[in-house]
Amino acid sequence: MAEAPPSPFLGVAGGESFVLGRIAQSLDGRIATPSGASRWIGGAEDLDHTHRLRASADAVLVGAATVAADDPRLTTRRVAGPSPVRVVLDPRRRLGTGFHVFQDGGPTLLCAAADGIAGDAHHGKAVVLAVPCRGGVFDLHALRDQLALRGLRRILVEGGGVTLSRFLAAGLLDRLHVTLAPLLLGDGIPAFALPPAATPAEAQRLAWTVHPLGGDLLLDIVFGTSAR
Ligand SMILES: NC(=O)c1ccc[n+]([C@@H]2O[C@H](COP(=O)([O-])OP(=O)(O)OC[C@H]3O[C@@H](n4cnc5c(N)ncnc54)[C@H](OP(=O)(O)O)[C@@H]3O)[C@@H](O)[C@H]2O)c1
Repeated sequence: MAEAPPSPFLGVAGGESFVLGRIAQSLDGRIATPSGASRWIGGAEDLDHTHRLRASADAVLVGAATVAADDPRLTTRRVAGPSPVRVVLDPRRRLGTGFHVFQDGGPTLLCAAADGIAGDAHHGKAVVLAVPCRGGVFDLHALRDQLALRGLRRILVEGGGVTLSRFLAAGLLDRLHVTLAPLLLGDGIPAFALPPAATPAEAQRLAWTVHPLGGDLLLDIVFGTSAR
């Protein structure tokens, strides 16, 4: 079991929400193959890092496609520490109730559109949270506030690419940890799905700190800091 690490969540002012995005991508920008296979893009140290982040988070959040593809547990297992509350974004409630996060009894919130589709108060053993939704897209600011009301302020967004990109586009990411693995998948599910920039000069340019992570690189991006 890996040692307890310094947490990127430490130092967050009490009462404020903090959203950390997390993804592991291949050198050619993919987080999974075309069939959705993503185990594993990064190495063992990358997995350890993810579990450290979970141990420091109040909530770990993923999109419906990640649950459908991976059936993840989203618990803290590779390091010592508590498991976060699982939050699944499934506006249309297209996921069945048989997935681990809905059956293993650990705390889970299933976020569904608050327009009548929310339906039952439970989904398997998970609690259904009705979230304002327009055109099938959640109001992520409202969701962040709903989670804060439940005491869930340190939020780890663990993917996939669509989910992470929507948080990024909404300006809700405070920090982003991207693992870059020396792997070429050729095709597959992209890490980011954002509106295109007309030219590099018009693109959002970020500042990062780069750390070796086993055979991979960890790109640590803090939003709100200036880039070159
Ligand atoms: N390499 C990695 O680090 C990593 C991490 C996680 C997942 N993955 C892989 O990534 C793949 C899935 O990624 P993905 O980008 O295709 O999908 P995803 O982000 O897992 O899920 C996207 C879906 O979640 C729902 N959703 C997400 N954000 C929403 C919002 N703001 N409002 C409303 N609904 C929202 C939508 O469901 P609806 O379609 O029902 O509208 C959306 O289509 C899987 O193959 C998984 O294995 C890799």
